[in-house]
Amino acid sequence: MSQPSKPNVAASLFTIHQVITRALDVSIREAKTLAREHRPHASQQYGFLNYLTALISVLGVHHLTENELAFPYFADKLPELPMAVLTRQHREIFSVLGELRVLVAEISSGALGELGWPIVGSTLVATRNLWRPHIEIEERHFDVEKIGEMLPAPEHLRLIAEFGEHSQRHSGPPFLTAPFILYNLPPEIRAIMAKGMPAEVVEHLIPVVWKERWASMRPYLLE
Ligand SMILES: [Fe+2]
Ligand SMILES: [Fe+2]
Repeated sequence: MSQPSKPNVAASLFTIHQVITRALDVSIREAKTLAREHRPHASQQYGFLNYLTALISVLGVHHLTENELAFPYFADKLPELPMAVLTRQHREIFSVLGELRVLVAEISSGALGELGWPIVGSTLVATRNLWRPHIEIEERHFDVEKIGEMLPAPEHLRLIAEFGEHSQRHSGPPFLTAPFILYNLPPEIRAIMAKGMPAEVVEHLIPVVWKERWASMRPYLLE
C-alpha cells in the first residue's frame, strides 16, 4: 500500500489494516502447521500465544476506535458510509474474537492439548473471512485522496494522535501490542507508524525495557 506524502488519517487507519491482515495470514499458517504436527505442549508455543493475544487486542481495539471516534466523526462528512453494515460486521468480528480469546486461554492452561490448534485455525479463518470484505468496504469509502483534500493538515495530525491515544489506552498488554504493530509492518511504513507513538515507547521501552517480554513473538514478526 503506498503512503501519501502528507499525514492522512485514512492512510493511518489502513496501516493498522495492513498489520492485522498480515497477522491473520501468519497466524493461520502457524495454526495449520501446529495442527498438522500434533504439538500438544502450550509451553512450546508461548510466542505464538503471545502473538495471538496481541492480534486479538489490536483488532478489537481498532474497531472500538472506529466505533467510538472515527465513524461518529465522519458520519456527516461521508454520508454514503454504510454505517449499519460496518457496525454489524464489527459485532460479528468481536464475537469470533471472543471465541479466540477463550481458545488462547484454554490452550495456555493446557485444557485443550493438541486438539486446540485445528479449532484455533478454523476460528482464525472465520475471522479473516469476515475481515477481508469488511476492510474492502472501509477502504473504498475512506478514500485517502478525498479525505486528504477534505481536511486541513493539522486536523489530520490531531485525529491521528487522538485515534492513536485511544488505541494505546485500550489495547494491551503494551509490551506485546506496541511491538506487534510496528513489526508486522515493513521498515519504511514502520518508521511512519513509529512517529505517531510516544518517543519513550519507540526508543526505550520496546528496544530495551520490554525487549525480553516480546522476544518470543520474533519468529512471526518482520525484521
Ligand atoms: Fe472496521
Ligand atoms: Fe478499519
